[in-house]
Amino acid sequence: MTTLLRRWAAIIAAVLLAGALGASPASALDDGGAINAAYQRLGGSAGRLGNPIDAGRCGLKDDGCVRHYQGGSIHFSRASGAHATWGGIEARWAGLGWETGHLGYAVGGERCGLRGGGCYQDFQGGKVYWSPALGTNPVWGAIGAYWASYGWENGPFGYPTSAEVCAARCTQSFWGGQITWNPNAPMSYSLWDWNPLVAVNKRRPLSPLTYAPPSLVWVGTQQMRADAAGALRKMISDAAAAGVPITTVSGYRSYSDQAALYGSYVARYGQAYADTISARPGFSEHQTGLAMDIGNPGAPCGLQACFRDTPAGRFAAANAWRYGFIVRYPDGFQGITGYTFEPWHLRYVGTNAAAQMRSWGVPTLEQYFLMAAAPGY
Ligand code: DAL
Ligand code: ZN
Repeated sequence: MTTLLRRWAAIIAAVLLAGALGASPASALDDGGAINAAYQRLGGSAGRLGNPIDAGRCGLKDDGCVRHYQGGSIHFSRASGAHATWGGIEARWAGLGWETGHLGYAVGGERCGLRGGGCYQDFQGGKVYWSPALGTNPVWGAIGAYWASYGWENGPFGYPTSAEVCAARCTQSFWGGQITWNPNAPMSYSLWDWNPLVAVNKRRPLSPLTYAPPSLVWVGTQQMRADAAGALRKMISDAAAAGVPITTVSGYRSYSDQAALYGSYVARYGQAYADTISARPGFSEHQTGLAMDIGNPGAPCGLQACFRDTPAGRFAAANAWRYGFIVRYPDGFQGITGYTFEPWHLRYVGTNAAAQMRSWGVPTLEQYFLMAAAPGY
C-alpha cells in the first residue's frame, strides 16, 4: 500500500512537473496542433525555444494564434503555417508591428550560414536579415526585388543597414550604397564613394545611364577613380621593377565617349558583333572609372586575345589580384559576361574581393555576386 501510494505520488509529481515545464500538450489552441508540432520539430523544451511561458492564445490577425516560450514564440495562421521566431530577427519584427505590420506572419524558420555569419527569415511581406556586423533590418517590395537582382547580401550592396524610408519616394540604405524607388522613375541606386564593387553588365546599366564618378585622377595617359588609380600605379611600378613595362591605353570613358566608341564598332562590324566586344553607352565599366585597358609597349597584340601571351598580359593574369584588379572578361565566359576574352581589361574591385575570387576560383563578377548571367541586353 505504501509502495502504491508512493507510485501515485511520483506519477502526480511527474505530471505536475511536466505541466510546470510546459511539456503538457494540453493547449487548447484552435491551430490544429500546428504550434505544438512546430515546437516539437524544433526539439521541444530541449530546443532553442525552451519551455512555454504561457498557454497560447488565438484571435490574432487572419485567425492566427501565438504561444510564447522562454526563447521566442511560435505564430500560426492558416495561410502562413506555424513558425518560430526568436532573437534579433524577432525583435525587429516586433518593432515593425508583429503580424499586423508590413511583414505579416513568418512563412519559414530562421536560416543561417549566410555571408559573414548572417541569418534571415522569410515573412509574408518580405525578409528580415541579421548579421553580426550590421544588425537586423527588413527588405521587401520593389527595393527588395532590385537588391535581390544584384545578388542579395552577396552583391555590391551587401546587407541592409536600415528599413526603407518613404515619403514621396522610398530609399533604403545598405552596407555598400542605397537604392531608391520613385513612382515616376526607374529604380536607381548609388554606391558609397569608397565602394568599388559596382556591378555593370548588359543587364545592369549605370544608374543613371549618364553616371560620372565624383572625381578622377590621372594614371599614365588615362583617368580613373583615385582608389583604382593608386592600385594601378603600384602594379605598374612593380611590373616595371620586374622588367615588364605596362602602359595605360583606355581608362575612364564618359557616356558620350562610350557612345562614340560603340558607334564606331557598329559602323565597322555591325551591331551583333560590336555587342560582343564593346558595351553600349551607360553599360560600360569604363564609365565607372574603375576599369583600365592595359598595353604592352612595342609588342603586337594590343587589345587582342594574344595579349594574354605578352609580358604585360602574363604579368596581369598572375598578379593583378594582388592590387585589387580582376581580368573582367576571361576566356570562355561570354555566356556569363556577354563579352569575348579581353585579357587587357582590368577592373578594380579592391583587394578583398580580388583575393577572394582568386582563392575561391570564381572567374567572373556575376558568379561572385551570385547574379544572373548577362549574355545579352
Ligand atoms: N570592351 C568593354 C566590354 C567595354 O566596352 O566596356
Ligand atoms: Zn576595357
